[in-house]
Amino acid sequence: MPDPLVKIEGLTRRFDVSKPWLNRVIERDDKQFLTANADVSFEIAKGETFALVGESGSGKSTIAKMVVGLLPPSAGTIRFDGQRIDASLGIPRSLRRRFQMIFQDPFASLNPRWRVGEIISEPIRTFGLMNATDARAEAARLLEVVGLSASDVTKYPHEFSGGQRQRIAIARALSSKPEFIVCDEPTSALDVSVQAQILNLMRDLQDEFGLTYLLISHDLSVVRHMATRIGVLYLGRLVEVAQGKRLFAEPQHPYTRMLLDAVPDLALSGRRRRPVEGEIPNPISPPSGCAFHPRCPLAFDRCRTEIPQPRPTPAGQAACHALDDMVPA
Ligand SMILES: Nc1ncnc2c1ncn2[C@@H]1O[C@H](COP(=O)(O)OP(=O)(O)O)[C@@H](O)[C@H]1O
Ligand SMILES: [Mg+2]
Repeated sequence: MPDPLVKIEGLTRRFDVSKPWLNRVIERDDKQFLTANADVSFEIAKGETFALVGESGSGKSTIAKMVVGLLPPSAGTIRFDGQRIDASLGIPRSLRRRFQMIFQDPFASLNPRWRVGEIISEPIRTFGLMNATDARAEAARLLEVVGLSASDVTKYPHEFSGGQRQRIAIARALSSKPEFIVCDEPTSALDVSVQAQILNLMRDLQDEFGLTYLLISHDLSVVRHMATRIGVLYLGRLVEVAQGKRLFAEPQHPYTRMLLDAVPDLALSGRRRRPVEGEIPNPISPPSGCAFHPRCPLAFDRCRTEIPQPRPTPAGQAACHALDDMVPA
């Protein structure tokens, strides 16, 4: 890949989930750590939509927060256009302006006491990009860009529907003229009919402004129409990465196959459709070896002891011992 816009290497995040000190002393418990992400590496090319999928609790949001510098990694690095992003190192404003984030719940992410015009122009003020008059005009213009009306600048978030509020959140994200937007479940809180409109808007904006997206979703049917490439997370680890269409056509990892089997509206000719079997394990005490082995129909001895490393596949990479036998290293 020629100079990726975003390069993530060995990204790991642990959370201290220990009981309070006194309880630990009395109950003679050790400190407990939860590994939300382990050794995650991927790159995002300029103009691409890289999607991260995985069940709830697989570590998607934790990656999103680290990538935009809201949370420091425990290990590993994130580089944006060659420069380190790390919440614990501080991020220069000139760099910070260049990426934004859109959250799942547009109501929670918009200040209810601010008028829409103020909400949208807040990044413009924060980064000192325009004077107040120009910022107001820009907010009105951005409302039209996202399919709302310029006169909506004087309204409050509660006066809008869920889909409209997500449009406002998008307009706000665009106002600092970012190159890269991290979208964490941007349509998961919306009705199905509205989801498609928001996804179409995101695609149009991507074309118009040359945006690069990290799109996060638990829903494969959402990423299917959006993603250039898709990364599949399982219990904090990336188990497969592939070009979007090919992940659906020729999934390699047994977990990816299980996820695809569970999507109801996919035309999987000749393949049996069944729900995702078993529960996602507790990340405080993950299974040994490949964390997927207790649910995996292909698991053998090695899978219980050794964590599989990513190997090249025809359309990307996958980390699975069962594939090692088929794909030459
Ligand atoms: N601040 C935190 N403290 C402790 N555990 C956390 C924290 N944030 C996330 N986790 C845990 O990390 C794991 C991954 O969470 P998250 O990244 O939110 O997953 P996803 O977005 O895929 O649902 C979960 O087990 C979650 O409980
Ligand atoms: Mg999440």
